Amino acid sequence: MDMNGTAYATTLDRTLDGGFDAARIDAESIEELERIGSDKWTRHPGCIGAFIAEMDYGLAPCVAEAIEQATARGALGYIPDPWKREVARSCAAWQLRYDWTVNPAVIRPVPDVLEAFEVFLREIVRSGNAIVVPTPAYMPFLSVPRLYGVDVIEIPMLRAGDGWLFDFDAIERAFAGGCRAFTLCNPHNPIGKVLTLDEMLRLSDLAAKYDVRIFSDEIHAPFVYQGYRHVPFASIDERTAMQAFTSTSASKSFNIPGTKCAQVILTNPDDLDMWMRNAEWSEHQTATIGAIATTAAYDGGGAWFDGVLRYIERNIALVNEEMRTRFSRVRYVPPQGTYIAWLDFSPLGLDDPAGYFLEKAGVALTDGRECGECGAGCVRMNFAMPYPLLGECFDRMHAALEADGLV
Ligand SMILES: Cc1ncc(COP(=O)(O)O)c(C=O)c1O
Repeated sequence: MDMNGTAYATTLDRTLDGGFDAARIDAESIEELERIGSDKWTRHPGCIGAFIAEMDYGLAPCVAEAIEQATARGALGYIPDPWKREVARSCAAWQLRYDWTVNPAVIRPVPDVLEAFEVFLREIVRSGNAIVVPTPAYMPFLSVPRLYGVDVIEIPMLRAGDGWLFDFDAIERAFAGGCRAFTLCNPHNPIGKVLTLDEMLRLSDLAAKYDVRIFSDEIHAPFVYQGYRHVPFASIDERTAMQAFTSTSASKSFNIPGTKCAQVILTNPDDLDMWMRNAEWSEHQTATIGAIATTAAYDGGGAWFDGVLRYIERNIALVNEEMRTRFSRVRYVPPQGTYIAWLDFSPLGLDDPAGYFLEKAGVALTDGRECGECGAGCVRMNFAMPYPLLGECFDRMHAALEADGLV
């Protein structure tokens, strides 16, 4: 492009706001989103994709540019040590957002958070043991442990007024019964809970009493709404640092999960030794292009992400308003973070609301039963879509319910 005055001005504006363009996103149509070709918009053609956790907000310009430059110079070989170090350095710098000063030497690359979870199950929990999973849960937390011979103990979260609480009594019973591992998802997909410091300290007390290790999935950390704060579990004190096996990624906040580069933050030195001995193969599968995209995102994407978060906060205000008005019979606790809402349609007598809305409204949601036994009658909704399409989602869902006399 010619570097004429207009182009320069555009570049300057984009630098100031990180290039996040809410007006362009508002104008995005279903057809355009389908043309991009994501799983979210191609699995159920013609339907609004609100199931898989991807956002429809394009790429941060700094990430797109880094990927273009890398492909132009052909930097697509196996991940080299300098990029591993860059991922660690930039991830550590990003953690300063949460007032966590972490040594980059304990941060290692891994293709995705689930691979980190698999290493945790294989090497730390080990076959024949069990892990607590608070439910409703991110679906693979329930299915993957079984692949490693690990039993899942589902412990439903308790609904308390306008919030969710851990059932600490049930958690303690599981630990007292011999379970030595816990899955912490903070912020919690799919209920959007942001844990408080007190809750994490109470969990840490129990973990200390029963010698429990905690897989801390902090992939949604950047998505915390105003009034809430993300506290990395391992950052609290020396004890939590020893209990935690943390994994995070830029893949949700920058919508780059297909580039395959997440991170483990191994604040327990034994875990780091184990990782260097037994997880080299996992690390090697991390994609170089993902390391490049991730480094660009962490180093230069903060302003773009802040634009995303403002957009998400506008969307959640709409979800909250719809639940308060047209969907007031749906049981709902407003999330405090993430871009996911948990909607309980059981008061309307719907057994399979995901199937119902796919068929009758052309809206593709996640079946709550995949998130645990407590999810019958519920759906998980990804609302990180263009604002007008979110409005259309609710119009379609409401029209279906109205036609069936359910509202
Ligand atoms: C809580 C949580 N953890 C992990 C993942 C998957 O991350 P990855 O693609 O890095 O395995 C997701 C994706 O939606 C998620 O919501």
